[in-house]
Amino acid sequence: MAKARPVRKTSPKKKTSVAGTILTRAASAAGKAVGRTVGVVTTRVMPAGPHDPIALLEKDHRRLEALLKQGEETTTRAAKGRAALLETLAAELVAHELKEEKVLYPALKRHSDAREIVLEGYEEHHVADVLVKELQRMAPTDERWGAKFKVLKENIEHHIEEEEGEMFRTARSVMSRERLAVLGTEMETMDGAPNRRSRGKS
Ligand SMILES: [Fe+2]
Ligand SMILES: [Fe+2]
Repeated sequence: MAKARPVRKTSPKKKTSVAGTILTRAASAAGKAVGRTVGVVTTRVMPAGPHDPIALLEKDHRRLEALLKQGEETTTRAAKGRAALLETLAAELVAHELKEEKVLYPALKRHSDAREIVLEGYEEHHVADVLVKELQRMAPTDERWGAKFKVLKENIEHHIEEEEGEMFRTARSVMSRERLAVLGTEMETMDGAPNRRSRGKS
């Protein structure tokens, strides 16, 4: 006797991978745009392959978020800790921004769908850099340090949200997996090289 087949359902509470989330969001957004053809659209948005630059940047984002959280929890009494943390954060932020500004942004900016969000990205990097410089010039015991660091944290978190939303979603839809792998390989090389501050936006 044939057993009754259980009804398959997708659990909304189930945790998905970052790549899975991007794919789902992209499919949802694209599906809304074209109405009935979600099945067709999902085949166009490629999931992560080897040397995936987006997965690499998202890994950096998690690290930056952890450092920002640590910084927010410091107090004026932990002046040494603040200075060390800021130094680490500044170095990692610059390395991350360079990967985006030297590799992803120029490649993505050529696509008209992404141009605006990429230009916004450059400006958000600039604001974060200014705030970091101001913090570096400020004594960690200064009563404004905590407030300024909080503004930096909120600024970077907002930027990460926009990148992982609209920008990376667009990158996956306009670039082939092969093209993304080329960009990812370039970023991996940069990760192994000493940081260079010059950016030369294009
Ligand atoms: Fe960025
Ligand atoms: Fe980023």
